[in-house]
Amino acid sequence: MPGHTVAFGPGRVNLIGEHTDYNDGLALPFAIDAGVRVSATATGDQSIRAHALDLGASDTYMLGGEAPSPGGWRAFVRGATAELAAAGLPLRGATLEIEGTIARGAGLSSSAALEVALCLALLALADADVVPPWPLARICSQVENEWVGANTGLLDQLASLCGRENAAMRIDFRSGVIVPVALALGEWRLVTLDSGVRHSHAESGYNDRRRECAQACEALGISSLRELEPAMLGRLAAPLDARARHVLEENARVDATVDALARGDLPAVGALLDASHASLRDLYEVSTPELNAAVDTLRAGGAAGARMMGGGFGGSVLGLLPPGALAPDGAIEVRPGAGARVLER
Ligand code: GLA
Repeated sequence: MPGHTVAFGPGRVNLIGEHTDYNDGLALPFAIDAGVRVSATATGDQSIRAHALDLGASDTYMLGGEAPSPGGWRAFVRGATAELAAAGLPLRGATLEIEGTIARGAGLSSSAALEVALCLALLALADADVVPPWPLARICSQVENEWVGANTGLLDQLASLCGRENAAMRIDFRSGVIVPVALALGEWRLVTLDSGVRHSHAESGYNDRRRECAQACEALGISSLRELEPAMLGRLAAPLDARARHVLEENARVDATVDALARGDLPAVGALLDASHASLRDLYEVSTPELNAAVDTLRAGGAAGARMMGGGFGGSVLGLLPPGALAPDGAIEVRPGAGARVLER
């Protein structure tokens, strides 16, 4: 049994396919190089002593004594041990040291990176069998749903767990099939630009949008918006019709992006990013003036397309820059990197 383990969970960028994951739809994310590193050292008893090194903050509790959950980063740690135990997985007491290279609340899934790194480090410390991506993503998302209060889907966790170099992943949330899609950008670049507005899915309108999608399904008598046919849209009252239209068209944009990438048609990918942003802004109504301004900045610098990314209400935008286009101040180049991994055991 190892006495010490280290795991890394990357953040993610979602190329396209937003607010589709919890609607049994399609998305095309990739893992990035920045993320969260967790080291776990066995304490020899049932105690967890967690230290968030960047924050200079600590939390101590006993396994099985996680509740009541305090807020902030402690909720993720307590949630992770509680949900791993609830899933019947082995656990040992540990000193946990958490260190991130990814901005919190900037829309690059610092939360999923933390959940994934915590789970991998703890499971490795207990010498547990490898848990496959879908069940592990579900455990991580339970942490977010039950302990943090954000009713998020599985996009971020799967992207973090399944990342690979030079490829995005087409995730089909209905069938469970994940297919790598080569991201051959040549001289083109993908960059993120922080809108400067921090977001928290627990406090934004994210949970409201999920509720609206469930209401649309109920009104139509379907089990998920993946079953939606264009002809059904007329049967929905506003704003549910607009929400549903976004999901329907965003799923189609994911496959159009996969096709455009296969053809090497990057201008077409740019146009799809623009269309996604317009839909998130006007139909799904999860953008903000700051996100729209960040998109405009990228476009003014010559981006072939740009869009808000993630849940919205703050965070970062993504832009696709052709050769020679200017990356604005503060923009960070992103490229697909390897998925979550145990670094030491
Ligand atoms: C957040 C959530 C994901 C997903 C996106 C929107 O990142 O954590 O589950 O719903 O928003 O696509």
